[in-house]
Amino acid sequence: MSRFENLAGKVAVVTGGASGIGRGIASRLIAQGMRVVIADVEQKALDSAASALGATGIRVDVSSLESVRSLASEVQRQFGAVHVVCNNAGVGSVARLEDMTSADWHWMLGVNLWGVIHGTNVFLRLLKENAEGGHIVNTASMGGLATLPGLGGYTTTKFAVVAFSETLAAELESEGSRVGVTVLCPGPVRSNIKTSHRNRPASLLGGGLVDSDLEQSEEGRAMPWLDPEQVGDVVVQAIQRGDLYALTHPEMAGIPAARHARIAAAFEAAAARLISATSNARTDASTTDSTP
Ligand code: NAI
Repeated sequence: MSRFENLAGKVAVVTGGASGIGRGIASRLIAQGMRVVIADVEQKALDSAASALGATGIRVDVSSLESVRSLASEVQRQFGAVHVVCNNAGVGSVARLEDMTSADWHWMLGVNLWGVIHGTNVFLRLLKENAEGGHIVNTASMGGLATLPGLGGYTTTKFAVVAFSETLAAELESEGSRVGVTVLCPGPVRSNIKTSHRNRPASLLGGGLVDSDLEQSEEGRAMPWLDPEQVGDVVVQAIQRGDLYALTHPEMAGIPAARHARIAAAFEAAAARLISATSNARTDASTTDSTP
């Protein structure tokens, strides 16, 4: 996997950079001497974050290919190159799957999955043009490694982001590309994800998804919350080392491990069924052979 060690002076684009994890990533990339564009759909938060961080703010709706294309053109016009792209914008409202409407799915898939697809399709070509190489960071979640009732819409998008990123990394590596890929899978991080509906377009209203404040819930209070800048530090290291997986909560390793153990047990059960079916077939055959 391609490493991108010297970030100073290079250009980064962070979607969803006006708040939470995106803002944390942007601040840590700026601390490395990068010139950072934060791109976000929420204009007021974008303006205030850009001025607080010393970043350039450009409005984007990541669910729209046209909007992401305009972002790339504007970044090219202002900076002439892009080296790091963090496809981070996302929404995290909750609902049981049977309560989710088509509008719910369009909104969540549009931001969380199409946002990553658009960001990659539009920027990969520009990253490949750099003599120094480049790096894509896609924000998934622990919800991309394990499922949870009530988070089915969210985890569907995040599992897809993990699959997309793993495949992209393998394809780029097999062609000897200087562009690396990281998939970021954080556990709980203090952010504004609890008010995701603030950015839901009027055209996609109506459905079962509701915002949920896990931080204030009894279950959430016991969780190991991180600040966005801590996640930003993990992302900087992953880019510099060329890591495919950027994980922030080692204490949560047991959650995907339990899923993997259930899959391994199902494979063992499948193997046992096969052995038993084969031995039954042999017994049947020998019984038939011995019949006079
Ligand atoms: P946040 O709400 O603080 O930040 C998300 C940003 O995305 C906001 O600035 C918002 O305006 C922007 N955004 C929403 N829709 C957009 C669109 N259509 N186009 C462009 N920008 C848009 O939430 P947070 O937590 O910082 O979320 C960032 C990413 O981290 C998301 O992908 C989320 O799924 C992921 N994540 C968050 C975790 C957490 O505990 N906060 C844990 C794991 C993953």
